[in-house]
Amino acid sequence: MSRIAAVLVAVAASAAVIVARQQGWGGDTTAWSAARASAWVALALLWAAVFTGVGVSLKYHPGIPGQVPALELHRVTGSLALSFTVVHAVALVADPYIRFAPWDAAVPFVAPYRPLATGLGVIAAWLVAAVVLSTWGAGWLPRRAWHLIHRASYAALALGVVHGIAAGTDTEHWPTHVAYTAIAASVLGAVFLRFLARDWVAAHRASRRPAPGHPG
Ligand code: HEM
Repeated sequence: MSRIAAVLVAVAASAAVIVARQQGWGGDTTAWSAARASAWVALALLWAAVFTGVGVSLKYHPGIPGQVPALELHRVTGSLALSFTVVHAVALVADPYIRFAPWDAAVPFVAPYRPLATGLGVIAAWLVAAVVLSTWGAGWLPRRAWHLIHRASYAALALGVVHGIAAGTDTEHWPTHVAYTAIAASVLGAVFLRFLARDWVAAHRASRRPAPGHPG
C-alpha cells in the first residue's frame, strides 16, 4: 500500500510543479520554492524513517500508540522520503534560473550549481532509492543483501544533512541551524543506542517487563 501511495505522491506533486511552472502560477520562483520545500519534507521524512527504524530494531516500537504500528510508520516515511526526493529533483530541473538538465539531477558532481554540494545530494538520492526499492522488492533479494543495502540509509541521511547545509539557501537562517542540529543529535543518540548500548537497552527493557503472572 505505501508503495502505491508513494508513487502517486511523487507523480502528482511533480506534475503540479511542472504545470505551475509552465502556466507561470506564483511567478518565476515557484519551482525554486517547490525545490526548497520538498527538500525539507524529504529530509524530515528520511529522518523519521531512520529514527523509527532504529526504534523497530531495538523493539521500542515508536509508532503512534493504538493508531499506526511502528513498522508501518517506518515503511511509509521511508517510501515518502523517496517521493519527495523525486519532487525536489524535478523542481530543480523545472527551475528557470538554476538551469539543471535532467542528468545534472541524476549524475553526481556534474551540476552547474555548487557541484560538490549538489553531488552529495545526488548520491544521497541514489542511496534513498536503493534502500526503498530494495525494500519494495525484498521478496526477491537474499536477506543479507537487503540488510546491507538497508544500512545505507544512515549514509543517505548523513549525506542529505551535509548536502542541505552546503547547498541550501536557508542555511543562513537560525531555525535551519536548529533543525540540522536536532536531526544530527537525535540520530547520533539513536545510533549510539542501536550499536554501542544495545545490551544496556535490552537489559533496561527486560527490567521493565512485568513479571510472569503480574497483571500490569
Ligand atoms: C536528486 C538529487 C539532488 C539534487 C540534484 C539536489 C540539489 C539541491 C540544490 C541545488 C539545492 C539548493 C537549493 C537552495 O538553494 O535552496 C538543494 C538543497 C537542499 N537539498 Fe537537495 N538535492 C538532491 C537530493 C537531496 C536529498 C536526497 C535530500 C535529503 C533527503 C536533499 C535535501 C536538501 C535540503 C534539506 C536542502 C536545503 C534547502 C534550503 O535550505 O533551502 N536533497 N538540493
